[in-house]
Amino acid sequence: MKECIYLNRIFSGIQPTRVAHLGNYLGALKHFVDYQEAENTESFFCVVDLHALTVRQDPKELHERTLDLIATYLAIGLDPNKANLFVQSHVPAHSEAAWLLTTISRMGEMSRMTQFKDKSKGSSETAGVGLFSYPILMAGDILLYQTSQVPVGEDQKQHLELARDLAERFNRDYGDIFTIPEPMINKVGARIMGLDQPEKKMSKSAESEFNYITLLDTPKQIEKKLKRAVTDSENEIRFDPENKPGVSNLLTIESVITGQSISELEQHYQGMGYGALKKELIEVVTDHLRPIQERYQEIRYSDELFHTLRKGAARANEVAGETLAKMKKAMGLIQL
Ligand code: TYM
Repeated sequence: MKECIYLNRIFSGIQPTRVAHLGNYLGALKHFVDYQEAENTESFFCVVDLHALTVRQDPKELHERTLDLIATYLAIGLDPNKANLFVQSHVPAHSEAAWLLTTISRMGEMSRMTQFKDKSKGSSETAGVGLFSYPILMAGDILLYQTSQVPVGEDQKQHLELARDLAERFNRDYGDIFTIPEPMINKVGARIMGLDQPEKKMSKSAESEFNYITLLDTPKQIEKKLKRAVTDSENEIRFDPENKPGVSNLLTIESVITGQSISELEQHYQGMGYGALKKELIEVVTDHLRPIQERYQEIRYSDELFHTLRKGAARANEVAGETLAKMKKAMGLIQL
């Protein structure tokens, strides 16, 4: 890959905590596959293992989930010859950049991060410092690659704003080093809701497994979970997230997977009941995930995984190292 031909860079990351779910897939992962084809664009898709450490992880589990996620990247169609796929901890610049950016971050702006408030459940005395400063590490992830666009789900919007603020502040105080990144948030699917609680986003940390469908769920599990998905007491298939969050969520899932618009789906389901919607969606989800799961099984324990990781890390270290050197020089640190 020759750097000079790229005008844009895309960066995104996913935490290797549990298996990726439909929210991760429809809000982010699925779009990565399209973006790797974009012209004049180099893309970096990272498994952010350092982020996962902000809450206690079982080391063996973390190790396995990291490999699972890289296998998932390949299984959905990301191609190591088109995109750089790598693990965050293989690029030491991420940790270093996080410290440098910490020195320009403010307590006030960090305290306003809603994800910290949610995850620490209001008990800031016992919450980890890593959980608090995590958005700075994320800002570094993005800025190190001179990223112009960051495809994410809606829940990452506030973190992206912080990354932009830090980039602007650094550029103002130390000279023009960083590209200012733009979030890329899709209109449909940026916030997939929990199947059992459609007022809240689908989440890996949900208590019930009926909240989410993982990319590795069996057809039986998919059927069971979708059959149990919460709807409402009407029987009209209409997109109305405020009054009909469950049904609207199911329509959104079908829309992103099939590429049909929500209004096309509403027309298609006119006069039909929720049973019909669920039956069709079970088929759509199962058929979509089947080839992904087959490919996943083929590669999960193959050498392809480590080959991909080495290639990705080499290029990521090159690009991130260059930006880190510029940051250090601008801040007055001596380089040998
Ligand atoms: P994470 O691992 O929680 O989620 C990965 C991606 O999935 C999206 N997502 C959703 N989209 C739609 N509906 C949902 N219910 C849903 N749940 C999750 C997230 O928005 C995200 O795009 N902080 C990030 C990881 C990260 C990162 C980065 C992302 C670290 N560094 C740099 C972009 C750029 C996170 O915890 O995502």
